[in-house]
Amino acid sequence: MKVLGIVGSKRKKGNTSVLVQKALQAAQKEGMETEIIYLGDYDIHGCRGCDGCKKTYKCIIDDDMQKIYPLLLESEAVILGSPTYFYNVTSDIKAFIDRCYCLEAFAEDDRSVWLGINEAMGGKYAVVIAVCEQSSEEDMGYTAVAMEKSLQALGYRVVESVKVLKLFSKGEALGDKEALENAEKAGVKLAKTLKLRKEVQERLSL
Ligand SMILES: Cc1cc2nc3c(=O)[nH]c(=O)nc-3n(C[C@H](O)[C@H](O)[C@H](O)COP(=O)(O)O)c2cc1C
Repeated sequence: MKVLGIVGSKRKKGNTSVLVQKALQAAQKEGMETEIIYLGDYDIHGCRGCDGCKKTYKCIIDDDMQKIYPLLLESEAVILGSPTYFYNVTSDIKAFIDRCYCLEAFAEDDRSVWLGINEAMGGKYAVVIAVCEQSSEEDMGYTAVAMEKSLQALGYRVVESVKVLKLFSKGEALGDKEALENAEKAGVKLAKTLKLRKEVQERLSL
């Protein structure tokens, strides 16, 4: 079972990276196969809203997002992390999420009827990690909720949302015991959820 970590900060040794890695390591210790990607390494253009994906669920834009789609499809779970940039996710995370639009399906005659293709594939799981500098959750704005709601719409159940306040400098998270513990717990919970699903599938002989 594979868990994909996705870091939405361009600071590879930054706080989001530290915490996504911590959660991923915990999942790995629980027996999960893991991989981490840094969106800053990829050239991801914005969604054009062309609907070219309508029948195929494949985006027609030929850029680095084409390297990420297979990783998403082969993973049962994701750990998505973003720092707060002006009360919201980074532009890298936003571009990534928007380009996942091709993974949504709508009924031909009624666009209020829709689902994520992940739902058609049996559902997936996610952990969200949001990091900000200020000291109240209000200062984090929409960061966590923007990731949670988008992942839910894409057919992921968000099992844990880790919100970390008061981190500014690169790598400061390494000294934040509580944040590290919360990221670790979230990674364990994600792995245990996947293991439980497998057990249930086996009991049901699926
Ligand atoms: C462009 C920009 C906008 C930011 N906006 C906010 C903000 O609205 N609220 C906040 O608390 N921190 C804000 N921050 C601080 C970052 O969220 C904080 O430094 C975080 O720890 C960075 O995570 P990273 O090390 O993973 O990049 C902002 C930082 C930058 C560079």
